[in-house]
Amino acid sequence: MTTGLYQGDNHDTKQEPLTQREQKILFSPLRLVVVLVLCVFTTEFLVHYLLQNTSMFSPSRVILLDAVLLSVALCPVLIFLLFRPLKHLVARHQINENQLRRHKEHLEQEVKARTAELDSVVQQLREEIIEKKQLEKDKQDTYCTLHTTLESMNEGFVSLDRQWRYAYVNKAAAHLMGRDVAEMLGRVCWEVFPESVNSLAYREIHRSVTENCITFFDDFIVEPLNRWYEYRCYPSPEGVSIFITDITERKYAEARFRDLSEHLETVREQERLAISREIHDDIGQTLTAFKLDLSWIERKFPSGNNELIGRLNAMRSSLDLLITKAQNLASELRPPLLDNLGLAAAIDWQTREFKRRCGIECHLMLNEEIKALDKQTGTAIMRILQEALTNIARHARATEVSVSLCRSGTDDLILEISDNGAGISQEEISSPLAFGLMGMQERARLCHGQLTIKGVHGEGTTIRLEIPRGAVKEAV
Ligand SMILES: Nc1ncnc2c1ncn2[C@@H]1O[C@H](COP(=O)(O)OP(=O)(O)OP(=O)(O)O)[C@@H](O)[C@H]1O
Ligand SMILES: [Mg+2]
Repeated sequence: MTTGLYQGDNHDTKQEPLTQREQKILFSPLRLVVVLVLCVFTTEFLVHYLLQNTSMFSPSRVILLDAVLLSVALCPVLIFLLFRPLKHLVARHQINENQLRRHKEHLEQEVKARTAELDSVVQQLREEIIEKKQLEKDKQDTYCTLHTTLESMNEGFVSLDRQWRYAYVNKAAAHLMGRDVAEMLGRVCWEVFPESVNSLAYREIHRSVTENCITFFDDFIVEPLNRWYEYRCYPSPEGVSIFITDITERKYAEARFRDLSEHLETVREQERLAISREIHDDIGQTLTAFKLDLSWIERKFPSGNNELIGRLNAMRSSLDLLITKAQNLASELRPPLLDNLGLAAAIDWQTREFKRRCGIECHLMLNEEIKALDKQTGTAIMRILQEALTNIARHARATEVSVSLCRSGTDDLILEISDNGAGISQEEISSPLAFGLMGMQERARLCHGQLTIKGVHGEGTTIRLEIPRGAVKEAV
């Protein structure tokens, strides 16, 4: 804008505006007087010079001539001296007028441009307002849909803000917690439920917010609710959203299932023991008696009947094989050493048997301090070991196996079976058809232990059972 104005000014300076000094000189009365005096004196000098050299004019004519000459001399001077500054004033005025006009035009253009700009800004703002209104409406619609969905759920849903105040509570959640929605909204949850401070739920909800992670957990709420709840916490910048499900029935069903499977396990073990004894005592003894009878018949027969003796020998060999098989079957069903000499001896026997039968190198590491454990834990460990070794023989294609039973630094009991075979895959571990692996897990759970299975493709598989110190009772 400023640049345009100055350009216009330069264009007009063909009629040079007067400088201040020039104006001073031009409009000075002193200058006018000096010039006038000079003109008068010059004219008077010329008139007197003429009169001195001629005597043809009368005094009245002389005065007239003097006056005429004076006027003739003074008129142009006066005209020049008075009109020139006026002309300059007019020119200057015109320049100013032109400048003002251009200023005006320029300003008008500026105003137009600014108006157009303002118009577009106004339009933009109008569009933004419409968009915001639409967003607001969408938000409102989404909220309504969400509200309807949350209210129609059987599952409880609460949303807590950063100050742990209830920002939203659905009807189901209020019902599950035995309160009214109005009674909870806007209040700090730990004030509504002071008894839950420092509970598992308190710690896990705090962890979800502070570590910004999703947490799932089950918690039992004591009096007056006395129920089990499953919590799923989802943190957000606004706070945390929690889904709550009443799982009391499921927990009781799980407990019943655990009791049932524990009972089944006990019954199975008792049956195995009974069958094992039956095979060992009755069948084994009958076979031995049979073998003795065979020897007696052999002795009673006259020598020389080679065909008969050959048959009797073949019968004795088959009988020996049958006796060994019966013994193996009895030991498989219930390793005798487990009941007689304890877990360490049974494991030692089991690993030696495995090496003998499968021809796979098996290293055993037993911690000397491990005494005989209670019957249930000992049996569970033994069965897990048997299943792991059977799996190695059937699936691993391993050349070496190591088995260790020891105590950790925290005195937990640790059984570890690892092989250098094909390595179990994650899909095989989580397959719903892996009944052998599931059985191992179930046995571990029954003795309050934790079983982990890890496999590395081409490098082998490791099965680790950890039973916490408190869960292991040592047999007296
Ligand atoms: N040590 C191992 N090395 C490699 N793969 C293994 C090993 N142990 C188990 N697997 C894989 O895991 C699968 C599941 O094992 P699981 O013991 O549950 O079933 P299974 O042995 O096939 O049958 P069963 O029910 O008779 O035990 C096996 O089929 C096998 O593919
Ligand atoms: Mg198996």
